Amino acid sequence: MSVFSEKAVIGTDVTEAARRLNAGEVVAVPTETVYGLAGNALNREAVLQIFKIKRRPSFDPLIVHCADAEEAFRYAVRVPPAAFMLAEKFWPGPLTLVLPSRGVVPEVVNAGLPTVALRVPAHPLFIQLLQQVDFPLAAPSANPFGYVSPTQASHVFEQLGDKIGYILDGGPCQLGLESTIVGFEKNKPVLLRLGAIPTVQLQQLFPDIAFKIQASSNPSAPGQLTSHYAPRKKVLWCKDFNESSEADPSTAYLVFGSMKPTQAPSSNILNLSEGGNYHEAARNLYHLLRQFDTGPWRRLKVFPLPEDDEGLAHTINDRLRRATASFS
Ligand code: TXA
Ligand code: MG
Repeated sequence: MSVFSEKAVIGTDVTEAARRLNAGEVVAVPTETVYGLAGNALNREAVLQIFKIKRRPSFDPLIVHCADAEEAFRYAVRVPPAAFMLAEKFWPGPLTLVLPSRGVVPEVVNAGLPTVALRVPAHPLFIQLLQQVDFPLAAPSANPFGYVSPTQASHVFEQLGDKIGYILDGGPCQLGLESTIVGFEKNKPVLLRLGAIPTVQLQQLFPDIAFKIQASSNPSAPGQLTSHYAPRKKVLWCKDFNESSEADPSTAYLVFGSMKPTQAPSSNILNLSEGGNYHEAARNLYHLLRQFDTGPWRRLKVFPLPEDDEGLAHTINDRLRRATASFS
């Protein structure tokens, strides 16, 4: 499938990444949320390569990344005032806006939808890259479709290293959860995907914001397929520690803070944040799910995080739920 007989180069050379993108190649890029698999959003062939490398179904549209808000809004029409307010507050950052498309971005990006998903990312290397090229970059998370998103260059290398030529290394992702996706109905914001923006911050701006988070198949935001973000091995959702009473050496436990099942050996404990910090937990989540998948255990038990004031537990629990969905 790949044109590359060698493994991807991992580096920090923005000019090299830009050169490859200009040549129509797909490269992995760091963002503040997760690593992306980027290609020229205006080049149909490059976009098709992204779908192919990811084995992503063609009905699942991509996010278009732009260097600034002014450029992003150029690809949309009939932008509601609420969208400008959201952009003002959260861009550059982990917010994706779904807006009516102007029709400049080719249909293959939007999977034929009349809308386009736009984001201005905050990672300094990615911004530099966007400034060096003359086009926006379509980029889904840089993982095989349905698998856990990558939050380090090495995660991308392990899974897609023989399918791409270059991975721009921006270090571990600061946030560790995908962007929050907001669409609009009758000009009012509608939350389509929980993400790195804590829900309380959105509700401060729009107290009555509607939630339309998809949990079934055939969704309007297909990244919401129930069994998304899932490791390959068995993940079990446990309401609390009582639900996981028997000791079992082949079970790992994904915990948060100082609480852990008393019977579990410490070598089987994967802790999202020893100090009970929700931002740290978000940053560690996908790395620990990968560590479980490549580790010696047969199954992982996960426990919902207690709700926090910011609403970040909301997103983390959503991802934990989806990681278990194909097994429960
Ligand atoms: O943080 C992120 O958003 C990362 C980084 C790389 O920017 N990207 C990411 O992309 O998570 P991806 O492709 O894994 O998820 C994008 C989601 C998909 O669920 C897709 O269905 C939704 O965005 N989406 C894209 N265009 C859409 C549209 N026109 N209407 C509704 N949903 C859309
Ligand atoms: Mg994804």
